[in-house]
Amino acid sequence: MEKTCSKKVFFLSLILLGIMWIIYRIVFKIPLGWNLTIYPHLWGNYLYITADLSNQCAKNLTEQNITPIKDTKHFLVSAYKDHRIDGTIRIISIYRRDDVRRLYCIIGCAQHGYLVTAADVDIHRDHFGFPYHTTDLLCKTEPKCDAANVTISNSPYTTDIPDMIFLPIRNRERNEHNFKYNFTVCISNLFGTYNNVLQFVQTIEVYKLLGIQKVVIYNTSCGPDLDKVLHYYREEGTLEIHQWPIDQFLNPSKGWNFEEHKGDLHYYGQLTTLNDCIYRNMYRSKYLLLNDIDEIIMPYKHATLELLLEDLQRQNPTVGVFLIENHIFPKTIFDDMGRFNLTQWKNVPGINILIHIYREPDRKNVFNPTKMIINPRQVVQTSVHSVLKNYGDTLRVPPNVCRIIHVRVPLQGSLTKEQLIVDTKLWEYQKDLVQNIDSVLNKSGI
Ligand SMILES: *[C@@H]1O[C@H](CO)[C@@H](O)[C@H](O)[C@H]1NC(C)=O
Ligand SMILES: *[C@@H]1O[C@H](CO)[C@@H](O)[C@H](O)[C@H]1NC(C)=O
Ligand SMILES: *[C@@H]1O[C@H](CO)[C@@H](O)[C@H](O)[C@H]1NC(C)=O
Ligand SMILES: *[C@@H]1O[C@H](CO)[C@@H](O)[C@H](O)[C@H]1NC(C)=O
Ligand SMILES: *[C@@H]1O[C@H](CO)[C@@H](O)[C@H](O)[C@H]1NC(C)=O
Ligand SMILES: *[C@@H]1O[C@H](CO)[C@@H](O)[C@H](O)[C@H]1NC(C)=O
Repeated sequence: MEKTCSKKVFFLSLILLGIMWIIYRIVFKIPLGWNLTIYPHLWGNYLYITADLSNQCAKNLTEQNITPIKDTKHFLVSAYKDHRIDGTIRIISIYRRDDVRRLYCIIGCAQHGYLVTAADVDIHRDHFGFPYHTTDLLCKTEPKCDAANVTISNSPYTTDIPDMIFLPIRNRERNEHNFKYNFTVCISNLFGTYNNVLQFVQTIEVYKLLGIQKVVIYNTSCGPDLDKVLHYYREEGTLEIHQWPIDQFLNPSKGWNFEEHKGDLHYYGQLTTLNDCIYRNMYRSKYLLLNDIDEIIMPYKHATLELLLEDLQRQNPTVGVFLIENHIFPKTIFDDMGRFNLTQWKNVPGINILIHIYREPDRKNVFNPTKMIINPRQVVQTSVHSVLKNYGDTLRVPPNVCRIIHVRVPLQGSLTKEQLIVDTKLWEYQKDLVQNIDSVLNKSGI
């Protein structure tokens, strides 16, 4: 009697356990089957799965800058180890706001197979109303995982690792000294048929005299002559070009404001590439300059950026973000003397910044927008005119110490020449500048 009863209890328990196991797999959307090797554990709100997938080898490591996440509307850009937050992996991404679902990181760990963890989604605050937002996907790891590559999936129960596209994890080593470069310029995206060769070459050559070692550009497209110059500078070593074919994946906006310009993404993804540039150069460059292709961050009291930053940093040791005011030099107002109307530049496409020496004055009650010089190791997320998240302090640098020379269409178009300020700062560099510009134009075949 007792024996049959305990037998019944035993079999009932088995059946009950089986049902619970099936419900458990349905609840967590685990496909029913026996071939799986992953075992999930739910700890509080945090799903953490250690997988024994060492027999499954990822094959596809991409060098592309835009990778769609399978079965979602999101895109991966690049992955970096962030030593400031315990080596958490930060994947810079382009995220469609209305496609909300849980995402999972699949991390290739040297010697330990693959680790699957839930991704934290950190959408950047600045998106100017567009449907796609620059976003960080954060993947926690564990100490024994020496993370080498990573990808994102919408399911933690992944069995097709060999078919997935992985991103290499950069910044695996932390280096706080001995930077390869002291000053690197991150130029926002190049797009359309932009062919402003003369202004571009003049800008790069001024920057070289100011002490920059590297310029980083994200290229969607450009005009034929500028393309030649870009190739020249890449060969010469000044320029690093990242291809940015965002127009093959989205309908990027030519403007900064969704209401006015429409499209999927702010300004060809400028916010995304700026953030990528910061992480890419975090341990390579002591400082980064974040500005547009037609802007020069110019010290007015120091001969070079090195001397300027030495001074600023000594006076403000905790500052890692230096805001520099933008000042407009209208391209419609010329120097009367025509001192730099040089014949050899007459047929070069683009604006000659040396003949625009009139600067618009400050306006009452209007803040001049800023661009930045940053210590990248103090910045977490950036926007165009200020940073969004950072460690350390921010300083607004007085315009008489450093300001941006920005030759473009006037902002205060009604002012006469007499109401503008004569500013011949660039002429101080003429001796080497003209010669260097000529040499580049010649060598790049313009
Ligand atoms: C890697 O992924 C790319 C993009 O989907 C694809 O074109 C390529 O064929 C893949 N390569 C391998 C070796 O699977
Ligand atoms: C990703 O990293 C793991 C661990 O180092 C390695 O076994 C695997 O081959 C890597 N995958 C690719 C595509 O490089
Ligand atoms: C960076 O600046 C330091 C001094 O501040 C100098 O010793 C070093 O050579 C510079 N590095 C480069 C790449 O110019
Ligand atoms: C920039 O992108 C365009 C379009 O993909 C390409 O044709 C051109 O060669 C690229 N230029 C450089 C210098 O990479
Ligand atoms: C210099 O060139 C500009 C445009 O190329 C022209 O408007 C200006 O009149 C010229 N100045 C002189 C003095 O020739
Ligand atoms: C341009 O380069 C050619 C040879 O490469 C040289 O003969 C010529 O003098 C150069 N011109 C200038 C203006 O530097």
